[in-house]
This record gives sequence, C-alpha cells and structure tokens, in this order.
Amino acid sequence: MKKSQQEAYKQDYAAAKKDGKPFFPYAIYKDSLIALLAIGIVITLAIVARVEIGEPVNPASSDFIPRPEWYFFFLFELLRIFKNQNVLTPVIMGTFIIPNILILLMIIWPFIDRGPERRIWKRPISMAVGTLVIAFMGYMTYLGATAPEGIGSGETIELEPQDEISTRGTELFIANGCGSCHMIKGVGAAGPGPNLTNEGGKNRGVQWQIDHLKNPQSKIPGSSMPAFASLPQQDLEVLGEYLNNLGTKYK
Ligand code: HEC
Repeated sequence: MKKSQQEAYKQDYAAAKKDGKPFFPYAIYKDSLIALLAIGIVITLAIVARVEIGEPVNPASSDFIPRPEWYFFFLFELLRIFKNQNVLTPVIMGTFIIPNILILLMIIWPFIDRGPERRIWKRPISMAVGTLVIAFMGYMTYLGATAPEGIGSGETIELEPQDEISTRGTELFIANGCGSCHMIKGVGAAGPGPNLTNEGGKNRGVQWQIDHLKNPQSKIPGSSMPAFASLPQQDLEVLGEYLNNLGTKYK
C-alpha cells in the first residue's frame, strides 16, 4: 500500500468511526435478528413443505448408481475430468487437491490483494477471477447434472439383430455394473472406461475378451478395470461373444 493511500484510508476510517455505531450491541443485534429469521424460515418450510422419505434402502442392490446432490455436481464432474488414468487419480484430484487449492487460495487472497480499494468496479482483476471461478463452477454443475451417468436394471440396449447372445450379453453388461464405466449405444457412462459400441471392430477374438474380463491387466497393462474372474464361465463366454460382435454383428 502506498503512503498516500494509507493516509486516505486512515482518514476514511476515522470519519466512518466518528458517526458509526459500535459492534456490540448494534451489529450483534442485527446479526441475531437475521439468524432467527433464517432459522424461522427453515422451521416453517419443514412444517409446510414436508419432504417425502423415499423407498427403504436395499443393501443387496448392486445396480444402484449413486449420484450426488445438485450442489456437488461440480465436484462430481471433476471426478470425470480426471478419468481414464488410474483409479485413485480422479478421487485424489477431485476431492482433495483441487478443492484444497481453491480453499487455500481463498485463505491467502487477503494477503495477495493488499489494495485498500473495496469498490468492486475498481478491482477488475479480483472481479474477473471471482466471476471466472463462479462461471466455471456453474458450467461444471451443468455438465455434472446432464452427464449420462448410470443405467437402471430393466434398461435395454437396442441392438440388431436381437438374439440370445445380444439379449443375454446386454443383461450381463447391466447386471455386472459394466455400464457404470462403459457405454454401449448411448446407454451407460461416458467414462472412465472406453465406449464399447464398436468393440467387436477391434477384432480381438472371443478368447481375448474372456481373458481380459478375468484379468484386465494381463491384456492391457496398467488397466484400472476391476477383474471379473468370479463370473461363471458361461457368463464369461456370453460376454466374450457379445463384446466381440459389438459394432460388427450387433449394431
Ligand atoms: C470401474 C470401472 C470399470 C468397470 C466396472 C468395467 N470396466 Fe471395462 N474398462 C475400464 C477401463 C478404465 C478400461 C480401459 C483400460 C485402459 O485402456 O487402460 C476398460 C476396458 C475395457 C475393455 C477394453 C476396451 C478397449 O477397447 O480397449 C473392455 C472390452 C471392457 N472394459 C469390458 C468391460 C465389461 C464387459 C465390464 C463388465 C463385466 C467392464 N468392462 C467393467 C473400466 C471398467
């Protein structure tokens, strides 16, 4: 802060203090009133606009795809940005490193921006940074809200021709939660796994698919896909055949 700025600031402050009111009790009184009002609104809403309690939780469900509340969608989207690396990267980046960098930035901001000016139109850099961060969070919230995440049981993937393998394969794809990482013809998640709509086009063969399902790392070193070695041999064979025909026989 420059000397002249400092003087001006001190003068302003002295003038404001002369006809100002002390913090206690005036400011405390106002704060308490507003706090009471806010709590009153919450209590009134709890009485007037009751929220339904949903279905009881089914702990045995394996096809439940958790989605966060809307105000966490931007974090949820962060998880998706760091997909396709190893399993832990998205979690560490999205829930620890990036949020903590932002929080740290907020804590040290008063030490970085030491200007006495408080009028926002005289602080273009702070304004721009603030607006950018809010816009970015808004955009991430939108992306998170519209992300094609998760598929329910009973959902079908429209494949032609419909035969025993395509029907059973789709069922296995959904029942085993493959759709929480992969997408086939618009059904399932856009990541972290690749889109499998044209998997058959890679001509890897049924046996490659079965071996990959049993031990993904043996075929794709460093793959973060979990192993499905505990699936019955019959299911593995159906899935292998199904995957090997996606995009070629099954369109
Ligand atoms: C936890 C997430 C996850 C689940 C669940 C999952 N996968 Fe994967 N899968 C991946 C990832 C990530 C890759 C990419 C690995 C790489 O290339 O490093 C992958 C790769 C694949 C590939 C090779 C794709 C290619 O073109 O290289 C196939 C095929 C596949 N998965 C099928 C399945 C099937 C079938 C299931 C369900 C039985 C399944 N996956 C479940 C994450 C998952």
